[in-house]
Amino acid sequence: MTLSFEFEKDFLEAFPIESAARRFVDAREVAKRITREGVRLMPSMDHTAMVSDPSRLITGPIRKFGYQAGWDERCYPSPLEGFDFWLITSRMPPDSPIRHQGWFDYIASVWPIDQPACDYFLGQGNGNPFLHHMTMGIEPPARGNESDLEYAVRLIPYMVDVRRRIQQGTGEQPSQLVMSLSQEVFASDEFRRRVPDLVQDLDGPYVIECMQGGGFLIQFFVLGGARIEVACRHGTSQAFNPRSTERFTREEISMRKDLVEKPMAERPGSLSPAG
Ligand SMILES: [Fe+2]
Repeated sequence: MTLSFEFEKDFLEAFPIESAARRFVDAREVAKRITREGVRLMPSMDHTAMVSDPSRLITGPIRKFGYQAGWDERCYPSPLEGFDFWLITSRMPPDSPIRHQGWFDYIASVWPIDQPACDYFLGQGNGNPFLHHMTMGIEPPARGNESDLEYAVRLIPYMVDVRRRIQQGTGEQPSQLVMSLSQEVFASDEFRRRVPDLVQDLDGPYVIECMQGGGFLIQFFVLGGARIEVACRHGTSQAFNPRSTERFTREEISMRKDLVEKPMAERPGSLSPAG
């Protein structure tokens, strides 16, 4: 499958903001580099995370494209740099006629919940609204007639390999591998015994969490400043795992311009200049 950017023009019309335009440039470049390394992307992006005050600056303009705000009846903690932010997600309906254009499956709308958080957000000079990051979907391995545990022991080495290929393609050090797994897997003693084997080729830290609502969601940031991310999901019933959004925002995500807008690494030497 090929990731489609057909929706980019309509999105930038709805949000004529510099941060969105810059992230599309990054996303296109990353998609090109990692596809060349054999990484299989979903045809549409998994999600984007945008910050605004008030939150309707994000949830409002996307309604005309069919997005359903708060569809998963969840609110996710997103503490950023010592300030309190929360987020809700809007979903593009699975049967939307414009889905094939590459629209984000989910748009996270993050907002400050008090004046100090709002002052911090506006003080960064990123604009309001501000598009923080875009996340590409990794095609999950096909699932046969197998248990959650059997699937997990294939999925994890697959994502370790995807992470290695992405690192090779971008030339940047990815963030920690955050794996949210179904309760059946998370609670399994056999699974815990097998974890060291499953991650033996991983170059970096990892976290295993229990996926609220079931299913699998494995994520990491691929560029410095956490501005481009990838996610592989299978069988999820909500956009995110609250524990993971809290972890990501607390440990990985910054709104500081000097961190978010870092230039991408030079093309790694392993790639041919013509490619
Ligand atoms: Fe994200």
